[in-house]
Amino acid sequence: MLSVVDLSKRYAGASRALFSGLGLAVAAGEIVALIGESGVGKSTLLNCIAGLETADRGSICIGPRATDVVRLDEAARAALRAQHIGFVFQAFHVLPTLSVEQNVAVPLLLSRVPRSEHARRIGTLLERVGLGGFERRWPASLSGGELQRVAIARALVHRPALILADEPTGNLDPRTAGEILDLLLERTRDQGAGALIVTHSQHVAERCDRTLLLTAEGLR
Ligand SMILES: Nc1ncnc2c1ncn2[C@@H]1O[C@H](COP(=O)(O)OP(=O)(O)OP(=O)(O)O)[C@@H](O)[C@H]1O
Ligand SMILES: [Mg+2]
Repeated sequence: MLSVVDLSKRYAGASRALFSGLGLAVAAGEIVALIGESGVGKSTLLNCIAGLETADRGSICIGPRATDVVRLDEAARAALRAQHIGFVFQAFHVLPTLSVEQNVAVPLLLSRVPRSEHARRIGTLLERVGLGGFERRWPASLSGGELQRVAIARALVHRPALILADEPTGNLDPRTAGEILDLLLERTRDQGAGALIVTHSQHVAERCDRTLLLTAEGLR
């Protein structure tokens, strides 16, 4: 579901490359933890994979047809993202002017999922993340952990081939974090998707199929 080969990234003005010659792969049904010190480049790597940040070199092949995002133009990258990627951002990015239900619906509006299925899918997922009955609530009235769970429901609703999650349980108590992780594991395996999950939690990493450590020298 994901194959990264020889990836390099250096921010303009930075004294050294954040990473270079990086390679990794995530198979269908596999959930991989990505750990590493703050500032080492985990979010940047996720953003490059999602095509939100451009890499300087390398290839990033995604989804059932192994489409190389690096070679796509902006519009094609956006289309690929809409169809095949579910992204949980470190800062949630829940849209403040949309209700909870409308936020979760965004990927569906960009997908080919029939309109008649939207409400059921949204309802099921909100129930699973413990936000049943929150459909009409506004993001401003939600706690940090609730916003995080809206972001998780939104990342899964269109059943993406690749799930990228940046600290998806960082704001949750241990029990809720465990339930969210159960959901991510279940969806990844049932849908034969691949998942790459950035975490600072040893417990989360242990429940994944394997762990990659990103350091200044590369991945191991
Ligand atoms: N747009 C940018 N321009 C320049 N430098 C950036 C940019 N975005 C991130 N950086 C720098 O790149 C480095 C890696 O940032 P990144 O957000 O990928 O780290 P991270 O591993 O996700 O850290 P954390 O665990 O704290 O979330 C940091 O030193 C950061 O300051
Ligand atoms: Mg980060």
